[in-house]
Amino acid sequence: MASIRERLAELRERVLAGDAAGVERQHALGKRTARERLDMLLDEDSFIEIDLYRQHQARGMKISENRPHSDGVVAGSGTIHGRRVFVYSQDFSVFGGSLGAAHASKIHKVMDLAIATGCPIIGLNDSGGARIQEGVMALDAYGGIFRRNVAASGIVPQISVVIGPCAGGAAYSPALTDFTFMVRDTAKMYLTGPDVVEAVSGERVTHEELGGAEVHGSLSGVATFVHDDEESCLEDVRFLVSLLPGNNMDGPPEGEPVGATSDVRPRLAEIVPPEPNKPYDMRAVVAELVDDEEFLEVHENWARNIVCGLARIDGQVVGVVGNQPMAFAGVLDSAAAQKAARFVRFCDAFGIPLVTLVDVPGFLPGSEQEHGGAIRHGAKLLYAYCEATVPRIQVIIRKAYGGAYIVMDSRSIGTDLSLAWPTNEIAVMGAEGAVNVLFRRELAAAADPVALRAELIAEYTEQLMHPRYAAERGLVDDVIDPVETRAAVARGLRMMATKRRTAPARKHGNVPL
Ligand code: COA
Repeated sequence: MASIRERLAELRERVLAGDAAGVERQHALGKRTARERLDMLLDEDSFIEIDLYRQHQARGMKISENRPHSDGVVAGSGTIHGRRVFVYSQDFSVFGGSLGAAHASKIHKVMDLAIATGCPIIGLNDSGGARIQEGVMALDAYGGIFRRNVAASGIVPQISVVIGPCAGGAAYSPALTDFTFMVRDTAKMYLTGPDVVEAVSGERVTHEELGGAEVHGSLSGVATFVHDDEESCLEDVRFLVSLLPGNNMDGPPEGEPVGATSDVRPRLAEIVPPEPNKPYDMRAVVAELVDDEEFLEVHENWARNIVCGLARIDGQVVGVVGNQPMAFAGVLDSAAAQKAARFVRFCDAFGIPLVTLVDVPGFLPGSEQEHGGAIRHGAKLLYAYCEATVPRIQVIIRKAYGGAYIVMDSRSIGTDLSLAWPTNEIAVMGAEGAVNVLFRRELAAAADPVALRAELIAEYTEQLMHPRYAAERGLVDDVIDPVETRAAVARGLRMMATKRRTAPARKHGNVPL
């Protein structure tokens, strides 16, 4: 009996140690091993591994002679800040982390367990893609992951960490999940690699230029977060998990109130310049509104004209969306609408209240935007807000013009509480433009058009653009002193904490894609 136990212990130790040469190669590439990464990600000694002894059953191309245990992926469950998550971590030292039937079925298993138990799924991706020797079985196995990604969507949070190659069909799993982290220099994501690109189109491009973290963090919007190294990346995954519910029934983790409902923030009166066209950093406003200035911004370098991220206000997790006057004057464009729409839908799916900070001059004009489908993309954000049933608070900080005003969580599309600073300017368009449209003929015929224009602009401003106009008509619930914004938002969140709304059953809406 003792020898059986000893043999098992010896095997377990050998499998856990991994292939020494493979481990060395991974370290030489500046990467941690699959297990070292899980050690960094999870609470100490919390990992429960499944399928340690799993081996592939494939035959072709001499692969049956090499059947390492674990089959290139470490899978199981652990805790982060004491809360349960399910994880898998691909092991590049085994067949380049490539995915075959056994490897994938371990991933399927943890995904099924995560859905059944209502816990987040975190996948660490470091893989050469579909295992070539397993042919169509490998492709079939990927399909099983994608199907589960979709089944889990809106049920449990899904986080992808790309920490090595993630090419071909493999790239679709991160794309289906809620958040994608990438690490500079080592992470690469593309559907077809540089060799294929060159063969097909003659374009010569490096791995980094085609699908590195920088490109996906700033141009394509594929990466939600970009990090310099694995340590800071996994630390941020832990922070993200601390803000997320385990599933869509739980609600986000509650923190202790910190007295925000009576907090006065004098800096808020100084950050925003009264001149409507002067830029400022919306993130400075966010920092004053949220607890401990802690704001986990998504897509920091993509569509920078809108700011989205998670934070806490008086202990309550919220999703913050804000126009960013510092980038393109904070206009809405296709990318900004897509970024914010996805974020709003995530928050709504997981019961996270929304706080929307409005300072928007309108949509970005131009044929490039129109031909690129700005109407279609803008409709995504509109759809996302109209559909959202979580508590919603709109704060109009300065400008709110035209269709962009409506889209940014206005009363008409269902905000629960609309607050405005005394500097607010809400109108179909600015005074100059409005006067030109309404009085073009009169101005052309006037003896003194300059004087008439000035007179009409003053009249328009007086009648339609004064800060109380919307409040007098019930479209703004209160005009507040900027320094009291944090307190007013915290009180509003408290007021709506038990909000419930159900819509008639339908298979699903037809969100513009
Ligand atoms: N199937 C089976 N084995 C694979 C593999 C795959 N898809 N991808 C990599 N490997 C193996 C390699 O054969 C190599 O094995 P060895 O150590 O026994 O020689 C090992 O993994 C490491 O790969 P290597 O190419 O040496 O690593 P690299 O860091 O130089 O390059 C990649 C990494 C991912 C860029 C490269 O391996 C690659 O292009 N792989 C194929 C990608 C692909 O087209 N996948 C299918 C798309 S779904």
